[in-house]
Amino acid sequence: MEIENVKEELLKDIENIDSLNNLNELKIKYLGKKGLITQLNSEIKNIPNEEKKEYGQKVNELRNIFNSFYEEKLKYFKEEELNRKLESEKIDVTLPSTRVKRGSKHPLNRTIEQIEDLFISMGYEVVDGPELETDEFCFERLNLPEGHPARDMQDSFYITDKYLLRTQTSAVQARTMLKYNGSKPIRMICIGKTYRREDDATHSHQFNQVEGLVIDKKENHVSLADLKGTLEVFMKKMLGENTRLRFRPSYFPFTEPSYEVDCSCFKCGGKGCNLCKQTGWIEVLGSGIVHPNVLKMNGYDPEEWGGFAFGTGIDRLAMFKYGIPDMRYLYTNDVRFLNQFDRKDV
Ligand code: DAH
Repeated sequence: MEIENVKEELLKDIENIDSLNNLNELKIKYLGKKGLITQLNSEIKNIPNEEKKEYGQKVNELRNIFNSFYEEKLKYFKEEELNRKLESEKIDVTLPSTRVKRGSKHPLNRTIEQIEDLFISMGYEVVDGPELETDEFCFERLNLPEGHPARDMQDSFYITDKYLLRTQTSAVQARTMLKYNGSKPIRMICIGKTYRREDDATHSHQFNQVEGLVIDKKENHVSLADLKGTLEVFMKKMLGENTRLRFRPSYFPFTEPSYEVDCSCFKCGGKGCNLCKQTGWIEVLGSGIVHPNVLKMNGYDPEEWGGFAFGTGIDRLAMFKYGIPDMRYLYTNDVRFLNQFDRKDV
């Protein structure tokens, strides 16, 4: 077999390569185990010594011709294949889409977002606290020492003697005061889940509360008037601009004086109906001026600082707002109920 003949054949074959398959066959034909170049290479042992060098060079030259052709074509075919793929898998973004059902916001979350937006707009900070709370923060630091009768109103789920599922977001008041170290004014709300051992149409063992706390220097006179104004804005926003508020003296261990706040019944406008039990009023909030003991226990000097606090159940607000008759609907995940809220926010 002559080198020149193989070269001629190779140059001719090269002309006809038009696919990756061809190219691979070509490689077998020339460089495979019995390939033509491979054979030429093994011939070298039969070549007289003085011709070996020239012969070797020629075979190498042939191999180089093959290799450079092979590399170039391989690259070319791979690119071509990729381009073909890109072309055939192209996505037409202008085609109309298939509609995906996206679900809807839960009425509780709608209510929570509205409350957060409102208070943020009034300069409040939204803070968070743990749901698994210590007796210390849930009760003691709020002026409810062990054995205090007011603890009975909040029968809870105790995990150990010390830990319980918090019965009120008021626990976060103490946490926030300690965080601010008695040195800065506070204007915060905290929204979160709370737990009590009760379960009927208007109570669930798990519910949500929003807690508000405002503390400032005494000379800035944060007063009952500020509390009233704030709660009026809050309730009008939630239940309608015609809502009127009524403050009734009440008792909470962490405030003094304390007030229970009623809203004019949004169903009958205050005339009296089955919702408001013919009174024209619906009880919605607990509030008051922060008790000096609570300030003191949590690092704020009551001689220097003062303010107000309030707390309310969000589930009840959502029920009033959306006309939901049973609190348990909020938690049972019935899609027939949830679908009713599949609408755009106003
Ligand atoms: N934590 C009270 C409750 O769960 C509500 C409440 C009353 C919160 C008065 C307050 C407050 O911050 O000042 O019934």
